Amino acid sequence: MSKNKSTQLGKYSYSEEDLEAGRRALIRGWSSGAEPVQMIFTRAKGALVWDSTGKEYIDCTSQAWSNNIGASDERVLEAAWSQMQELTHLRSNYDSVPLLLLSKELAESAPGKLNRVGYCLHGSMAVEMAVKIAVKNRPNSGPLVTLYDGYHGRSLATMGWSWPHINNDFNNLLPPVVRIQHPYVYRYALPGEKPAEMAKRCADILRDTIRLGTNGKPPAFLMEPVQGNGTQLEFPREYYHLVRDICTEENVLLIWDEIQTGMGRCGTMWASEYYGVEPDIIVFGKGVGGGFPLAGIIAREDLIGFEPGDDALTFGQFPVSLATGLAALHVLKDDKLLENCREMGAFATQRLYELEKHHPLIGDIRGPGLNIGIELVRDRKTKEPAAHEALEVYSRGLDQGVIFGTTRYGGIGNVVKIKPPLCINKDQMNCVIEVFDQILKEIEEKR
Ligand SMILES: Cc1ncc(COP(=O)(O)O)c(C=O)c1O
Repeated sequence: MSKNKSTQLGKYSYSEEDLEAGRRALIRGWSSGAEPVQMIFTRAKGALVWDSTGKEYIDCTSQAWSNNIGASDERVLEAAWSQMQELTHLRSNYDSVPLLLLSKELAESAPGKLNRVGYCLHGSMAVEMAVKIAVKNRPNSGPLVTLYDGYHGRSLATMGWSWPHINNDFNNLLPPVVRIQHPYVYRYALPGEKPAEMAKRCADILRDTIRLGTNGKPPAFLMEPVQGNGTQLEFPREYYHLVRDICTEENVLLIWDEIQTGMGRCGTMWASEYYGVEPDIIVFGKGVGGGFPLAGIIAREDLIGFEPGDDALTFGQFPVSLATGLAALHVLKDDKLLENCREMGAFATQRLYELEKHHPLIGDIRGPGLNIGIELVRDRKTKEPAAHEALEVYSRGLDQGVIFGTTRYGGIGNVVKIKPPLCINKDQMNCVIEVFDQILKEIEEKR
């Protein structure tokens, strides 16, 4: 086929040569290394996406774990379009109607005293916003405390607060931080140590670090309730309550980065609700915008907020995203997506436990809700990570029309993720599990 033959796609007319020139020009910050270079997605709806050849996939990544209510929901598109016709850009000094309505609803959605909302467009900036609030409330404090394998973004500050990764060239620009052991029971529990005991040991490390481990008292402890980019890791329930108590006793703010766990992913609006813990600040992002960029914080009402000049971004209160965020919240309720998330999550997890009986590659299955991770191992006794096999699940999945998630960040690259939009139906979920079963069979037969 001639490289300069023109293709028409919607409003676009282009040749293969144009696309190649674009690929050469594009600076890429992230590629898993496993995507076929030519892969271009052109359409998405609900839990499905289509590539430029017309091939359909069930999307177990929700793209960046972010299409929680499903892709291209008509009600969200309608909200965006009607907002776009009225007002697309407004300086953050002024208010818009969707700004105030969404603030009211998000404040109502959050637990207890978390009643004050601030916005930006990206999770990384939202995490920075939360830390700034913490520092305003704990002036002259020391470094932040975070967890091993934590992920909080790729702005300079949030890279610093995240677990270092192999390609990090920016060390001399990153803020100070103290990272502590997380209760990763499957891999790092001491011989004979029970989950609750490991939770206590790690919580004790937090207390000691706050008291003894930093120059200046930490303003906050920043953690994801379930580590997403790490290894899709849920902690023992006790840990959540212990860290809450320690932060209260030590007068250190507790920030929960709910950018992945929020907007229903765990089967409740926020993971804080799921675990019955009220942090001091929730950070949100990803699914909250209904497929449009929207992130921010929900902070305890008695915390000091920002003063003029402390926090202002040109597009920080983007009316279109605020309108889609409001519509997405309504879709979540109207379509009972939390219920569906719990149901589909339980269904998939149950099926995975059945598969575990036949597939020695499955080492550990984690949740909750549609926040599923499967840690693959070459040997259940030694727990040798099956990272190559996890990548194979990803690429064979693409061949068979399922986009599985993987993680090569912080963790060891051996976790397959199933985190589809919360509107996924039973037939689609069944298909995902069957494809996973088949792929594991093929990989195991080869060994
Ligand atoms: C837990 C968590 N925090 C922060 C971020 C950063 O969000 P963004 O990529 O929107 O800056 C992410 C993104 O993956 C995330 O998963």
